[in-house]
Amino acid sequence: MRPLLAAWPGQERLAESLGRELEAERLSFTMRRFPDGETYLRVDGDVQGRPVAVLCTLRDPDPLFLPLAFLAATLRDLGATSVGLVAPYLAYMRQDRRFRPGEAVTSTGFARLLSATFDWLATVDPHLHRHGSLAEIYGVPAAAVEAAPLLADWIRANVADPLVVGPDAESLQWVGSIARAVPCPYVVLEKIRRGDANVSVSELPPGAASAGRTPVLVDDIVSTAGTMIEAARRCRERGLAAPVCLAVHAVFAPGAYEGLRAAGAARVVTTNTIPHASNGIDVAAPLAAAAGRMLRA
Ligand code: R5P
Repeated sequence: MRPLLAAWPGQERLAESLGRELEAERLSFTMRRFPDGETYLRVDGDVQGRPVAVLCTLRDPDPLFLPLAFLAATLRDLGATSVGLVAPYLAYMRQDRRFRPGEAVTSTGFARLLSATFDWLATVDPHLHRHGSLAEIYGVPAAAVEAAPLLADWIRANVADPLVVGPDAESLQWVGSIARAVPCPYVVLEKIRRGDANVSVSELPPGAASAGRTPVLVDDIVSTAGTMIEAARRCRERGLAAPVCLAVHAVFAPGAYEGLRAAGAARVVTTNTIPHASNGIDVAAPLAAAAGRMLRA
């Protein structure tokens, strides 16, 4: 029996290609707010005996979570055999330890909530830093697609003589594999974060500047863009060409995209895990493959 795909409003473009790849039938639902702010939800189709994948990227997760939980519960009540979540961007992965006494470790808290709500999860490049894998914190099967091969393909097709630049130690995991796949040299800088929008990044090593290459800054997430802006500044002060900025997840806090363009980025390109004007790399095929494996299991 063909699976059903229920796409969150605003995510129709990715839903179209994902639906095609999954050979899924689209399932629509109606959702609105009552005047007092509570959620009204109605599933507009027969889900009895069918597996359902819900597509919802988790940028701005707080207002999304409760309606998502209602949708998953309703699908089960109506007879769906399983309800999985395709979250191209998985939120709450960065607060992965208690940095100061009393802080909430929201990565594990959110993982518990999602694991209690869905039967499986498929996502793209979750921010795994101090957690080694999603299995450490998620209690349901969880697949993480790597965007690195897609980013490498994009660089190969669009940038002559690239130098891949990772802005911090965490980026080494994807920067190294991207540079090997292109192939091209890479450097990884060091970052010190002092606050949400206050970061500094170390200088480029002297050898990097003499190579005459176009710097390609690569990060998993751009949020305030402070990290990319600082790395771009480091490239400029070494007299390198205007950098190309690549990121997997276009989180972009208000004003961040404009700030990055104003900081001298030659291009800003992201994957379509979060709908944004900078989307230029399509994750639908590998994401559908991962979701398909979950649906079949
Ligand atoms: C950090 O841990 C991530 O890999 C990104 O470097 C970070 O989320 C970027 O944040 P921002 O754009 O706010 O500097």
